[in-house]
Amino acid sequence: VIDIRKLYAQGDVFTFDPGFTSTASCESAITYIDGDKGELLYRGYPIEELAEKSHYLEVCYLLLYGELPTRTQMEDFERRVTRHTMLHEQIHYFFRGFRRDSHPMATMVGVVGAMSAFYHDSLDINDPWQREVAALRMIAKLPTIAAMAYKYSLGQPFVYPRNDLDYAANFLHMCFSVPAEKYEVDPILAHAMDLIFTLHADHEQNASTSTVRLAGSSGANPFACVAAGIACLWGPAHGGANQACLEMLRQIGSVDRIPEYIARAKDKNDPFRLMGFGHRVYKNFDPRAKVMKQAADDVLGLLGIKDNPTLQVAKELERIALEDPYFVEKKLYPNVDFYSGIILEAMGFPTSMFTPIFALSRTVGWISQWKEMLGDENQKIGRPRQLYVGKPRRAYVEVENR
Ligand code: ACO
Repeated sequence: VIDIRKLYAQGDVFTFDPGFTSTASCESAITYIDGDKGELLYRGYPIEELAEKSHYLEVCYLLLYGELPTRTQMEDFERRVTRHTMLHEQIHYFFRGFRRDSHPMATMVGVVGAMSAFYHDSLDINDPWQREVAALRMIAKLPTIAAMAYKYSLGQPFVYPRNDLDYAANFLHMCFSVPAEKYEVDPILAHAMDLIFTLHADHEQNASTSTVRLAGSSGANPFACVAAGIACLWGPAHGGANQACLEMLRQIGSVDRIPEYIARAKDKNDPFRLMGFGHRVYKNFDPRAKVMKQAADDVLGLLGIKDNPTLQVAKELERIALEDPYFVEKKLYPNVDFYSGIILEAMGFPTSMFTPIFALSRTVGWISQWKEMLGDENQKIGRPRQLYVGKPRRAYVEVENR
């Protein structure tokens, strides 16, 4: 690792690194990834262990404050989060301005950005207490916003949060309850939902987190920063891959069509890529994909869904790709998005809700990173440099001479 800041200050160095493949933008004590080993740690704890033994709100506490909570700290944190789950009634009118067929991610970018209008004048981000309240509001309100975006797309009435339910169960309640029918949250689904939230909670300086940090580095309102993160996450090379992946698996349809798609993924003249495969940092198995694969088996089994064709295609595609020299040489393995869509589909979510669910899970990561950045006394506005390749200085040409 070369710290080039001193050299830069002396005017001795200028680095060119498109896509930031080898440039660290910050120091962080939140999440650690060893891409060669396929290891992911939140505050030092392995993701596999947290997935098995912890739950999402505890992980939120861990990411925000750096340590696992005691029982009392956890109860207090839950109480502080749940009291912020409601949205201002006026926000309902804001939703109504969107077309019914808007993608829920588009609605979320707009609504989360609009939240900055509700918490702007009152918010002094230089005050650590106000940063704390902003973080709690964000974690509490994102599920309500995502569920409302879903309800709006269905033309169903909005369902208010229930603070007697846990975080994941409350989200399912807001998505699947309809006033005319009794709805009981299935504990199997609530557990699976919680697991998906946990696995997506943070992933160090990925594109959307870097976007949130960059936006926040100017001192912008945190809701506006998270809206920027949501916009970045939406792309199919990032969080949008979970929707794209399930659509691809459905399009493949049956095991016998896999070789055709593998051949397309390898063809340099075809823009097609295997969605849910490959990662900028992991050059080994994404540990989240392993947990997700097991969870897909467990959840479908518990729900009594046998011989799910999409899961069969996914497993066979993984097997064939991992034996293919192209994928082996380029170290392309399934990532977190490869199996998550299968679970979400089994839970009853349409593909358009996959990325909003990713966004609400990742909100704690974004906001933890935002808090960490603002708490750093050496924090500077993010301002990448460029390598200019345009025209040299030249004289203006009058229009009649062009
Ligand atoms: N299918 C086929 N080939 C691939 C794939 C893929 N999914 N991913 C990478 N490659 C190939 C590239 O064509 C390239 O080949 P080349 O060296 O012959 O030109 C090589 O592997 C390296 O790929 P890059 O795009 O340079 O790697 P980068 O680190 O920039 O991209 C990314 C990583 C964007 C995740 C890429 O693997 C991809 O597009 N994957 C599919 C989309 C996806 O699943 N995204 C989710 C990522 S996880 C997340 O955001 C939560």
